[in-house]
Amino acid sequence: MKRVAVFASGSGSNFEAIVQACREQSLQFEVVLLFSDKEQAYALERAKNLNIPAHTFSPKNFPDKNSYEKEIVKLLEDYDVEFIALAGYMRLVGPLLLNQYFGKIINIHPSLLPSFPGKDAIGQAIKKGVKITGVTIHYVDSGMDTGPIIAQEAVEVDETDTHETLQKKIQKIEHELYPKIIDKLLRKDDHYVIKASTN
Ligand code: GRF
Repeated sequence: MKRVAVFASGSGSNFEAIVQACREQSLQFEVVLLFSDKEQAYALERAKNLNIPAHTFSPKNFPDKNSYEKEIVKLLEDYDVEFIALAGYMRLVGPLLLNQYFGKIINIHPSLLPSFPGKDAIGQAIKKGVKITGVTIHYVDSGMDTGPIIAQEAVEVDETDTHETLQKKIQKIEHELYPKIIDKLLRKDDHYVIKASTN
């Protein structure tokens, strides 16, 4: 069993979906840790209910990003974490964490990248009036939603869609796709190392 950490800053619905998928399907990994940079994140509540160890500390309590990430790496080592799935973690990953887990950190984003990177991708898509948007899972590099793309799934935007209804459709796809892709990557060890090094 591969040992995976999920990082979340907010609601944590993807975190919960990944944990449930591990419990209900025969996947080759387990979620051993939830990390959040926000003490008020609802994801922490979910972790408690799901019986998953959760830790939180804020970069505000550290002199710089490096020392914040050093603490994260220590935590990851304590839990023997091999792979990190960002799920609504609202921070750029810095060089310290990236070097330590190079090619082993992925993210999920609610648009078809490279369209609509950054904050509120769903709002951006609605504002632009696109008829198709979707979900992207990609490797994390030092940029904002810029790493090599691993998987994408399209979602149609209907004329009647609001931010809320579109988000619902997108999250439904996310919750199915994310555990599936993590599992697929972790079944072929060499795949993610090679893929990430092309960046
Ligand atoms: C998801 O839509 C994900 O694509 C984006 O942030 C959102 C997190 O939602 N990166 P949740 O916290 O998993 O409910």
